[in-house]
Amino acid sequence: MPEIIARTATADYPIFIQQGALDHLGERIAACVQGRRAVIVTDDQVGPLYLERASRSLRAAGFSCSEAVVPAGEASKTPEQLASLYARFQETGLSRADPVIALGGGVVGDLAGFAAATWLRGVPLAQVPTTLLAQVDSSIGGKTGIDLPQGKNLIGAFYQPRLVVMDPAVLHTLPRRFMADGMAEVIKYGLIGDEPLLAQVEQQACDLEWVVSRCVRSKIAVVARDEKDNGERMLLNFGHTVGHAIEKATGFNAFSHGEAVAVGMVIAARVGEQLGETEPGTCDRIRRVLEAYQLPVRADIPLTAILLAIKSDKKRLGSRIHYVLLRRPGEAFLKPMAPEELADVLGEVWPRG
Ligand code: GLY
Repeated sequence: MPEIIARTATADYPIFIQQGALDHLGERIAACVQGRRAVIVTDDQVGPLYLERASRSLRAAGFSCSEAVVPAGEASKTPEQLASLYARFQETGLSRADPVIALGGGVVGDLAGFAAATWLRGVPLAQVPTTLLAQVDSSIGGKTGIDLPQGKNLIGAFYQPRLVVMDPAVLHTLPRRFMADGMAEVIKYGLIGDEPLLAQVEQQACDLEWVVSRCVRSKIAVVARDEKDNGERMLLNFGHTVGHAIEKATGFNAFSHGEAVAVGMVIAARVGEQLGETEPGTCDRIRRVLEAYQLPVRADIPLTAILLAIKSDKKRLGSRIHYVLLRRPGEAFLKPMAPEELADVLGEVWPRG
């Protein structure tokens, strides 16, 4: 598969989608950076599977390589884990020319990405996503960050990687729940702007490499037009206002990100239908495709907890929440809403009992 070039106002970078790409990681990175010290950041689930292969490839390309392994899961996106990465960078003697390699899913990409963005005011970053969710979404477009007790991703930076290397082969060993997690984001791409992708996904017979490359191309097109999330990029947050609130209200461990977004998409479709903005029947179609991928379509959480969590959501501009709604599957738009207005309509559609 040819490399795809992502173009943004601040950087252009290659995205490689290739079977066996992990074994060529070192040479790919060597072609994009000058330094020859590297730190691979991974987690304790991905590390045992791929760390040795990745570091062997880096050593073969002339890098001296050290490693930082964090516990798997959202709970690692903390200031404490960030500080532990800085300590590792210091011990390794990482200079401004040396790369940080984020080997893992969205959590590792966000945490290592933010550490790379801020260490010495920025060192080269290679994103090597190993989950479907990270391949189709979080490794592309330069969002990095960590969580605070007050909310998810409250500290962060837009920081584009030097390169992204994806090995679709790693997806074949993903546990079912991780695949479903990523499929929620794939379904999101279909719903906001790619109805043919949605139709293909509904058939449940699509080639994963094709799906990844299609989503990557959609995302880089959006990011090229709106790198800093001031307009069109916010459409990628379809389902995320309520999704993030569900994650926060349940302590980031009852629902995976994709599961929470799945419920958020159902709620957003219901809100749109309730307001007369979304084509009737859209919500039912969304529920069917989510259920086909064993994703949840409701969350038994009190609405008061959801509204409290939405209050600290960063997807606000001034006093308005930019809620993403659909006209129909394949067409999304932003609806700026006062928090009270959103609370009222959520009160009408939130499942009871
Ligand atoms: N995950 C949404 C974005 O990158 O903007």
